[in-house]
Amino acid sequence: MSGKYATETLQANESGIARAAAILRAGGLVAVPTETVYGLAARADSEEAVGRIYEAKGRPSFNPLIVHVPSVERAESLALFSAKARELAQDNWPGPLTLVLPKRERASLAARVTAGLPTLALRMPDHPVMAALLEAVDFPLAAPSANRSGFISPTSAKHVLASLDGRIDAVIDGGPSRSGLESTIVAVREDGSLEQLRPGPIEVAPRNSSSGSGAIEAPGQLASHYAPGKPLRLHADEHAADEFMIGFGAITGDCTLSETGNLEEAASRLYACLHAGARSGKPRIAVASIPDREIGLAINDRLRRAATPPD
Ligand code: TXA
Ligand code: MG
Repeated sequence: MSGKYATETLQANESGIARAAAILRAGGLVAVPTETVYGLAARADSEEAVGRIYEAKGRPSFNPLIVHVPSVERAESLALFSAKARELAQDNWPGPLTLVLPKRERASLAARVTAGLPTLALRMPDHPVMAALLEAVDFPLAAPSANRSGFISPTSAKHVLASLDGRIDAVIDGGPSRSGLESTIVAVREDGSLEQLRPGPIEVAPRNSSSGSGAIEAPGQLASHYAPGKPLRLHADEHAADEFMIGFGAITGDCTLSETGNLEEAASRLYACLHAGARSGKPRIAVASIPDREIGLAINDRLRRAATPPD
């Protein structure tokens, strides 16, 4: 233990979920598995609880959080759904799509959740543990990825503990995340047009032309993010002796994303390989080229940010 909490590891069963729900009701922090990455959950209707998320992560207060709900109906009580937004939710929820919509003025949400924006990011996750937890409580859950701000996202309970042990109340161990990359974020504009603010597991909208510079719409899309804490070299087809190699397809590495060149498998293993590279004794990391198509677009987005040194 390294902080002020004795972080509990909970089983992904009925009693573990009941314990997590009790901690959340009392305003605590619980890391929870989802199909994308582990989220750091707190009740979204409490300023104090949400404040603890920012504190535990060291997250800048201008970076708003995604609110997780158990149903489309609950989502509609928090934000204004146009016909287009409703169609997207019905087609893709539960699943790795986050919708940015106009927030309802009277939604009972802590102001800190949206960091002052008039819009709200909403998602209904496709994971039995997160779904059961959302059913067990009577408030929505704010949940960013369960890592210290700027570092690699967690796809296992072990990854969560590597950066947040002693800083949160509990983690539910639900095994490795299936999808392995954060949700696609799409803003639905008042004129019905769509803008993709973050690439992810599913593609439903054209990419925002300003995405990458990041300052305007998705504050968390900073140039440097997912950083392993050491230099990372992209498009490597071979590696030096002091580099931890992350391979793909025919290029075998110390950690290989997918021997068969399968992009879905590569996405699910990306953060595990980055964590392994970060932990290894090698001072640098090299990564093989990943094709820029389908979920490879989202993998390359994360890799570019991981390769950009922090300011
Ligand atoms: O898959 C996921 O989305 C995971 C799991 C836990 O659900 N969550 C996640 O949260 O990746 P986080 O906080 O690491 O990333 C949320 C992103 C940030 O880039 C944030 O700036 C953006 O969503 N965001 C949140 N609210 C927004 C809003 N109202 N408008 C634009 N961007 C927003
Ligand atoms: Mg994150």
